[in-house]
Amino acid sequence: MTLLQTLRPATRDLDQSDIVAVINGARNKPGIVPLWVGEGDLPTPAFIIRAAKTAMDAGETFYTWQRGIPELREALADYHTRHYGIENDRERFFVTGSGMQAIQLSLQALSGVGDEVIMTTPCWPNIHAATQVGGGVPVHVELDFSQNGWSLDIDKLFGAVTDRTRAMFINSPANPTGWVAPLETLRAILEFARERGIWIIADEVYHRFVYDSDLAPSFYELIEPEDRVIFVNTFSKNWAMTGWRAGWISAPPEIGQVLENLIQYSTSGVAPFTQKAAVTGLNDGEPFIAMQKERAQRNRDVMCDALTATGRVELAKPAGAFYLFFKVPGYPDSKELALRIIEEANVGLAPGSGFYSGGSEFLRMCYLRDPAQIDEGAARLVKFLEAL
Ligand SMILES: Cc1ncc(COP(=O)(O)O)c(C=O)c1O
Repeated sequence: MTLLQTLRPATRDLDQSDIVAVINGARNKPGIVPLWVGEGDLPTPAFIIRAAKTAMDAGETFYTWQRGIPELREALADYHTRHYGIENDRERFFVTGSGMQAIQLSLQALSGVGDEVIMTTPCWPNIHAATQVGGGVPVHVELDFSQNGWSLDIDKLFGAVTDRTRAMFINSPANPTGWVAPLETLRAILEFARERGIWIIADEVYHRFVYDSDLAPSFYELIEPEDRVIFVNTFSKNWAMTGWRAGWISAPPEIGQVLENLIQYSTSGVAPFTQKAAVTGLNDGEPFIAMQKERAQRNRDVMCDALTATGRVELAKPAGAFYLFFKVPGYPDSKELALRIIEEANVGLAPGSGFYSGGSEFLRMCYLRDPAQIDEGAARLVKFLEAL
């Protein structure tokens, strides 16, 4: 028996990411325009960094509250009241060591071995894999693609529910498709979940990145106190803090002790100076968020127009998040195509095969970058596509 064979099957058999495989092959390629990773190119703004430094200098280097420092939980409550008009209640909020950990803990709270978690796909692969790590079964419901955009057939979603379904994982605005669930869709999902006693995990990490309004439609607009909805979110995207690893869960206070326990038995809390930085981001970050969104919108439009003009791609202008998920008809193997684009155009894209059901023919591009780099990437891709 090999060492590997002695490991727990649910973890041993996890898929290797096609995305990481493609990136690792060309990470340091000279001159590459890297549009493959899910983050912008701006470092964390100086005013946020200053807050962390001040806290560190003041000796805030000790263990702290598992649920998060009161100041951050209050800032989160204020932020949500400001944006969604919900009751100002810090007891809803639990600080986690990233959006990813918020997902992991929510799944740990809800789903055990053999339990089914429904997710719309193509999806961020970590959602699928985190379900598997806990022994749960990811159940895929494919979004439908047309030139008008991605959409969810709600009957398909409801049809996937079985006696073993514990939760529906709804990521909107979505990575990688840019799908934004209309409020009516969220309402139908919530009503169905109420009837069937199923939890919803609402991943709204891209809530500020929508291009025809200020804020994406949200379950916050619909929930009642007793609803079974857990929100997962992150400081990574809005405040350019991907490397800090900080996020939050928002959930009915009734389950607070369980979430505190799960935090205690995993990371035991988030560094206090990171939390101070997060408070500053929430309170003073609006101009930065507006600037990021403007940049993303400009880049989305430039890139979509350039690729569409070649007549060689199928795409729908994404309504939200900061990804373009497009395909090149005649080239269905996205991993092969991504490798070829690296080689011939020196542009890094993520293969859609890494995003599960419905994604394999697509390529994902992150466009939250310097406009000059997007212009260069667009020019290179146009040249590549025209020569195909
Ligand atoms: C849909 C979605 N949810 C959650 C996350 C979590 O981000 P992080 O772990 O950096 O907080 C990401 C990051 O790419 C994401 O795309």
